Amino acid sequence: MHASDIRTDLTTVLVTEEQIHEKLAELGKQIDADYAGKELLLVGVLKGAVMVMADLSRHLSHNVEIDWMAVSSYGTSTKSSGVVQIRKDLDTDMAGRHVLIVEDIIDSGLTLSWLLDNFASRGAASIEVCALLRKPAAAKVEIDCKYVGFDIPNDFVVGYGLDYAERYRNLRDVAVLAPHVYTGE
Ligand code: XMP
Ligand code: MG
Repeated sequence: MHASDIRTDLTTVLVTEEQIHEKLAELGKQIDADYAGKELLLVGVLKGAVMVMADLSRHLSHNVEIDWMAVSSYGTSTKSSGVVQIRKDLDTDMAGRHVLIVEDIIDSGLTLSWLLDNFASRGAASIEVCALLRKPAAAKVEIDCKYVGFDIPNDFVVGYGLDYAERYRNLRDVAVLAPHVYTGE
């Protein structure tokens, strides 16, 4: 296996670190206002949402609870299989809770749609979604996402938590992955 070279692995930077933090501050204000006087449970979807959760939650003045769920639908390919598996369930009972799902990206929407169905039977007082990124052109199902950071084109992106084969998560910006990385050409 060749060591990958970050300069040739990425094509364009789509969203910069500064843009991300500005947007998360804005969304944080909105979320604070919307949940005023309510207790909020943030549910992060591992592993991609780790950075969004860390930064968004620190923009909230709310004293929130944070829990994590791990699901998989991807493997190392760049397309959603639509077959979702729970790898780690929540530790928290969401009955009667106001739940905000924190996601890195809505691509086909299949994962979130499955997750929302799964959560529907757990008796939450409310369930909303916050996603940093969304690819409108890739949608296979409509997701009612109340808080969206950026709509982006239908390219495979990495950085700020998003990976290809577990790499690039530590990039500070969100960038388009050069197709040669995943086609092997
Ligand atoms: P879907 O298609 O079900 O996406 O909405 C579910 C999960 O797949 C990951 N995903 C990506 N990861 N670059 C990535 O690094 C992408 O462009 C991308 N699109 C989807 C992500 O974890 C998402 O929650
Ligand atoms: Mg994810």
